[in-house]
Amino acid sequence: MSTNDPLLQPFQLRHLRLRNRVMTTSHEPAYAEDGLPKERYRAYHVARARGGIALTMTAGSAAVSRDSPPVFNNILAYKDEVVPWMKDLVDACHEHGAAVMIQLTHLGRRTRWDKGHWLPVVSPSHHKEAAHRAFPKKIEDWDLARIIKEYADAAERMQAAGLDGIELEAYGHLLDQFWSPLTNELEGPYGGTLENRMRFTLDVLRAVRARVGAELIVGVRYTADERLEGGLTKAEGFEISRRLKASGMVDFLNIVRGHIDTDAGLTDLIPIQGMPSAPHLDFTGEIRAATQFPTFHAARIQDVATARHAIATGKVDMIGMTRAHMTDPDIVRKIIAKREGDIRPCVGANYCLDRIYQGGSAYCIHNAATGRELFIPHEIPPAAVKRRVVVVGAGPAGLEAARVAAERGHEVIVHEAAADPGGQVRLTARSRARQEMIGIIDWRMAQCTTRNVKFHFESYVDAEDVMAGRPDVVIVATGGLPHTEVLKAGNDLTVSSWDILSGSIQPRTNVLLFDDAGDHSALQAAQVIANSGARLEIMTPDRSFAPEVMAMNLVPYMRSLQSLDVTFTVTFRLEQVIREGSSLLAIVGSDYGGVRKERRVDQVVINHGTLPNDGLYFALKPVSTNRGAVDYARLIAGAQQPHDDNPVEVGSHPFQLFRIGDAVSARNTHAAIYDALRLVNDL
Ligand SMILES: Cc1cc2nc3c(=O)[nH]c(=O)nc-3n(C[C@H](O)[C@H](O)[C@H](O)COP(=O)(O)O)c2cc1C
Ligand code: SF4
Repeated sequence: MSTNDPLLQPFQLRHLRLRNRVMTTSHEPAYAEDGLPKERYRAYHVARARGGIALTMTAGSAAVSRDSPPVFNNILAYKDEVVPWMKDLVDACHEHGAAVMIQLTHLGRRTRWDKGHWLPVVSPSHHKEAAHRAFPKKIEDWDLARIIKEYADAAERMQAAGLDGIELEAYGHLLDQFWSPLTNELEGPYGGTLENRMRFTLDVLRAVRARVGAELIVGVRYTADERLEGGLTKAEGFEISRRLKASGMVDFLNIVRGHIDTDAGLTDLIPIQGMPSAPHLDFTGEIRAATQFPTFHAARIQDVATARHAIATGKVDMIGMTRAHMTDPDIVRKIIAKREGDIRPCVGANYCLDRIYQGGSAYCIHNAATGRELFIPHEIPPAAVKRRVVVVGAGPAGLEAARVAAERGHEVIVHEAAADPGGQVRLTARSRARQEMIGIIDWRMAQCTTRNVKFHFESYVDAEDVMAGRPDVVIVATGGLPHTEVLKAGNDLTVSSWDILSGSIQPRTNVLLFDDAGDHSALQAAQVIANSGARLEIMTPDRSFAPEVMAMNLVPYMRSLQSLDVTFTVTFRLEQVIREGSSLLAIVGSDYGGVRKERRVDQVVINHGTLPNDGLYFALKPVSTNRGAVDYARLIAGAQQPHDDNPVEVGSHPFQLFRIGDAVSARNTHAAIYDALRLVNDL
């Protein structure tokens, strides 16, 4: 099919024809097993290859050396066993028409000595990296020779596995630790002038080329401007770009801008929701214009229009839509089918990336099939038997249940007590920085509407109302309500973070916010309070601040809250609140014992998760055929729930009852959506 769409034009990268201009840049989802890309890893990439991308840059920071141990679960490219696994992945993606490359690296100081084999961390200086905190050994001549050889060994393994190409990582890792004056304190020949600082990279490239020849595509993904005082400048970045091209050993440049040694730096380089879209695209375009060389780029290009603009204006040759493909692996297929409106939007929540830095694997906040392709397909299977499904609650869990049930062909009716859909997500999206979250709701509403789901808003139903509709299945997704009864005394003197977020209670002037959930609600309420001009102290009994928010998501909050002079107090627990005239006396203790402090404030805000809103569920439970029970073994195995035949009242219509999301217990948006997807996929 011929098309004028710039995104769908092929790109010729030397001998390699890429079928369109859309790629996923390398991103380690931490799915490796024993450092190897096994079935789960393969299924993840195959889903995107099937979805139409031209190129998948696999792994992310695949380790070339033993003294570059991953801090999360990356591929170990120094193992010979990697070859057959990579080959299976490559062959499977090739079958679907996608090219496959891999990113290789030595992390230098961006790792820890207490990982892997407990080898010392190396770098061209002793300066530690803030994010990983290891004090490196200053690299020696025998390290250089060893690591250069290990890069070539890894490249040879990837060639043996049939990859179309490799990419060397040079931002925050060993190669650019040589480039940056901030991290290179060597004397010549590897320190000092830019030529010397680039020598190690060129030595590596020379060794790689000597080993793999001219056939394998080789590129470099690098920072062309560290945006750090004393660091690599834009002028040097341009010079590096020219020198890489002039070396004749490189086939493409993959540009990033900034530094990743701190959480804040990483978040500016890979922006999240609330931050500007495509912030480094014009900069990348300048490099492409200066070098006239194949150029790749990704950084918060989430929507097709921006991606199309990037290609149409010639700023890049290949555009990365990496997180966008974690949300929807079928973007290209939908563009081709003229179904762009069906693309599930990446809302920039960064749950995916933040999780891997906490040791988890990458999951998308609102596509629970991603990373679970082996047992949850992205395409929803039609139901063998059509049933009438009543969903109560139109938050993320209820809407996902409705969407999946409708897609399966069931008749679906949704009751929502509020006037609008969204539940807690609607509250979340009231903050400007998080308003993209409403995309989770809007997309589901649009999908449900085209599948004839019947919605009843402002419809507060009881058990009789539900049963009157003669459902075959009832799914209770009624969410939760703030849990504020958490103090020894004085609960009635407090308000909840939701009261502040919803605007139903205005902040006073001197506020104590007690956060025992460590989640977004606390920090969003804190922003409302601090922005009102109030003096604010956030107190948590945890030993780290806002643990459920995670590293990159914390950055925008800290930037605003620190600038508003908010006080952060960890390891202290609010115990009781006492009224004293027009003010409140807060009594504070600690889980460590032995302390008692006081705070005199005029408002206490509690953030302590939710309690399930479960009245309807318990009313329906005794009259349902399964008494609300879930067969966990079947749920996990992706099998249908059993049709238990507990007795029902004579004349009443038998129905199965399930509850999902926060109506069960306070969790998060991903958990709510996952509850719904895996249950309804097999109804
Ligand atoms: C889970 C995850 C892991 C990542 N790991 C790497 C990595 O190892 N190496 C790398 O160069 N980039 C990594 N990235 C960054 C992506 O390649 C990309 O630059 C970033 O996601 C911005 O592009 P996007 O807005 O299209 O997602 C990772 C991204 C994600 C989401
Ligand atoms: S978790 Fe958020 S940022 Fe990551 S892929 Fe999903 S929607 Fe996009």
